Amino acid sequence: MNSNKRWKVLLIDDEADIREVVSLTMMDAGYEVITAPDGKTGIDLCKTQRPHIVTTDIRMPDINGIQVLETVKKFDPDIEVIVITAFGEMNLAIKALQLDASDFITKPINDESLHLALNRAKERYLSRKHLKDYTALIEKEKAETTQALIRTLEFRRNLIESSMDGILACDQNGIVVTMNAAMEKLLGFSRTEIVYKRTVDQFFSQREMENFQKKMKENRYGGRNRLFLYETTLIGKDNKKVPVQVSASALFEQGKESGIVCFFRDLREIRRLEREFEDQAKVLHQDKMMSLGRLAASVVHEINNPLAGILNYLRLMIRIVDREKPNPEQLEKFRRYLEVVENETSRCSKIVSGLLTFSRKSPSAFGDVYIEDLLQRSILLSHHKLELSNIELKTDISPNIPVVKGDINQLQQCLINLIFNAVDAMPTGGTLWISANYDPNEKKVIISVKDTGPGIAKENLPHLFEPFFTTKKEGYGVGLGLSTVWGIMERHNGTVKVESQPGYGADFKLILPYSA
Ligand SMILES: Nc1ncnc2c1ncn2[C@@H]1O[C@H](COP(=O)(O)OP(=O)(O)OP(=O)(O)O)[C@@H](O)[C@H]1O
Ligand SMILES: [Mg+2]
Repeated sequence: MNSNKRWKVLLIDDEADIREVVSLTMMDAGYEVITAPDGKTGIDLCKTQRPHIVTTDIRMPDINGIQVLETVKKFDPDIEVIVITAFGEMNLAIKALQLDASDFITKPINDESLHLALNRAKERYLSRKHLKDYTALIEKEKAETTQALIRTLEFRRNLIESSMDGILACDQNGIVVTMNAAMEKLLGFSRTEIVYKRTVDQFFSQREMENFQKKMKENRYGGRNRLFLYETTLIGKDNKKVPVQVSASALFEQGKESGIVCFFRDLREIRRLEREFEDQAKVLHQDKMMSLGRLAASVVHEINNPLAGILNYLRLMIRIVDREKPNPEQLEKFRRYLEVVENETSRCSKIVSGLLTFSRKSPSAFGDVYIEDLLQRSILLSHHKLELSNIELKTDISPNIPVVKGDINQLQQCLINLIFNAVDAMPTGGTLWISANYDPNEKKVIISVKDTGPGIAKENLPHLFEPFFTTKKEGYGVGLGLSTVWGIMERHNGTVKVESQPGYGADFKLILPYSA
């Protein structure tokens, strides 16, 4: 029988005949059989040969079958032991069964009972093995599941622990059951002081807690049983108030509310930045107000002077006219007075229109500006002035200049202001260079107005573009030319720059952006 081939049986019997007969029977049935003539040899063989089944005679000199059974079972409880008893030794048979023998056979051994006993031993062996494998499998799976569970729990714990937001959960009675490190920081309490010891309402004012609970019940604020980004104040250790933004969600177990989990975001840093920002805005506003005040004061001063002159001359003329009809000599005086009045009035008007250009915010008439065209127009308007001052004009306009977007009138105003300043700087003549070129890398058009005048003192450079800054004599300069240029360039997203070394003239550059 092939199915018995893998079964190894150790047969222990001190009677050689029995060994021979029984082993033959077993071998015929396909078992692999080893034999031993006494208990000691049997036990040794058991250890080296590892049989599945041991069949042992009970009555043997020295070590008897019961001892063999005990020793074998101790050594390997999986080995099945069948004891062979003589007729009438039922008590020994029972003892053997109590010691976990799988069966007993009585002498004289007949084949049938031998096979029955062997089959039963095999069954026992196999079912025990199956049970063992099954247990091992379950153990393994259990271990794996436990590991996975531990990993998941650990991961969740880490997730909660490493959150930047404070996380706190409480049960249905409001008792805090867990919280993370960020929450400890927010409250200033360690979790051992809080978890299972305090209720969540201890960290809010009564009013805030009522609000919080009311909002949790409402459908708004993230939906019923939820709260989304609600701003409130936590009360931490030593009554410290901490502004927070809280999102919360009620927890349910089998349809019953079992607690709430809350996420708190610390708003202290945001509030600090807000305050800083507000302070800055305040300072900026103050700055603006101050410069506005300064500007107003200057305007009043600038306009007051000419107005005083105008008023004086007009009053004088009225007084003369009131007294008598003016004679030709007086009329001649009047003409001079009126000239002053005209000059002063146009000065006032210049100040006012200059201020208007300076303060205008939105671009008025933006369109295509051809730089060459712009320069020609500006030169034409200043030609007469240049000739009067004996100034030689040199131009250099590069051919590759693209068309820029802008308000040609305002840009022309810029150029005229620069040219007139240059002319003013060279009252006894000199050279004026007007050039234009394009920087394709920077995508910028650069127009330069350069003179051979005395240049600009270093200490004046930072003030050139301030309104009403002038070094010119009363009646010659208002000090709005360059600030107007600056304002116009701003509106064109451009800049105005100056380079000057005293004694070597000044070079003003208008830099305009080009965008295709
Ligand atoms: N090309 C120049 N060379 C030397 N100094 C100059 C030149 N351009 C301007 N400045 C200096 O900058 C000052 C301010 O110029 P700005 O054009 O703003 O006012 P202004 O010419 O004095 O008066 P306004 O142009 O309003 O009649 C001038 O008073 C002068 O000191
Ligand atoms: Mg000027």
